[in-house]
Amino acid sequence: MLNENQVAQHYSHGNLIGAIEAAVSSMGKTTDKLSIDDLGPVDEFHIGGRVATSNLLGQTNFGASDHIIDMGCGLGGASRFIANKINSRVTGVDLTQEYVDTGNELNRWVGLDKLVNLQQGSILSLPFEDESFDGALMLHVGMNIADKNALFKEAYRVLKPGAIFGIYDVMKTGDGDLTYPVPWATDQSTSSLASAEEYQQALEQAGFKAGVINNRRDFGLEFFKQMKAKTEANGGPPPLGLHTLMQASTPLKLKNMIENISAGNIAPIEIIAQR
Ligand SMILES: C[S@@+](CC[C@H](N)C(=O)[O-])C[C@H]1O[C@@H](n2cnc3c(N)ncnc32)[C@H](O)[C@@H]1O
Repeated sequence: MLNENQVAQHYSHGNLIGAIEAAVSSMGKTTDKLSIDDLGPVDEFHIGGRVATSNLLGQTNFGASDHIIDMGCGLGGASRFIANKINSRVTGVDLTQEYVDTGNELNRWVGLDKLVNLQQGSILSLPFEDESFDGALMLHVGMNIADKNALFKEAYRVLKPGAIFGIYDVMKTGDGDLTYPVPWATDQSTSSLASAEEYQQALEQAGFKAGVINNRRDFGLEFFKQMKAKTEANGGPPPLGLHTLMQASTPLKLKNMIENISAGNIAPIEIIAQR
């Protein structure tokens, strides 16, 4: 098992809420007049941001009466997007206390705190009864979890029969060594990648029917290309963005990510499974 304290340490910022407040103010906005779209550039910490979340959600059957779990929710951007879009209740669980605290404050800012609740914990040991949830999402989290069998066994336990589990992770697509740091890890010690086939095997071993595999490599590379073009055209990044989370290490982590994808070693991939 990877060291969960080390993983949480990797993501901790120190004053994330202060950094987001400062960026909001430099956008000429106040925290009581923000929309979830204003927060999208910072609170969707995965390749393709909000567009990727929307694409994943579109392959589920989640509805207003459902209670959804966002596994490894980070700041809860996907949780708020789902709750806002389909009016469902969403519970997010994340290892990094600062992300959970910040995310719950963002819930209050946009008036979604009745529908969305984030809590600190490991998704390898969820504090919920069996068959508690009607659906699950997990975006860019499995890279920090070595034991995929344990991960999917726990997801299976908390989901109701028939529930859809939408996964969007960075997966292994080749045998070359990765260049670090990357957004999810400073070095190999907190990184544990698996191929889509290994995900499928672990899902099936847990009892899921592991359906469609969608390789989103081209979408991912296009996302980074557009981000770079916008940054260059505007003479720097916008006030709120992934750089708010990753700070000074952002350019190197993104450069390595793009190179690792371009070399064919990794790709963002969706898998839609059913309990
Ligand atoms: C790259 S971020 C993605 C966050 C979020 N899903 C999103 O897309 O914006 C990875 C997140 O996984 C969380 N994480 C890693 N291992 C975890 C575990 N065992 N249990 C819960 N969260 C975990 C980290 O704390 C971090 O917030």
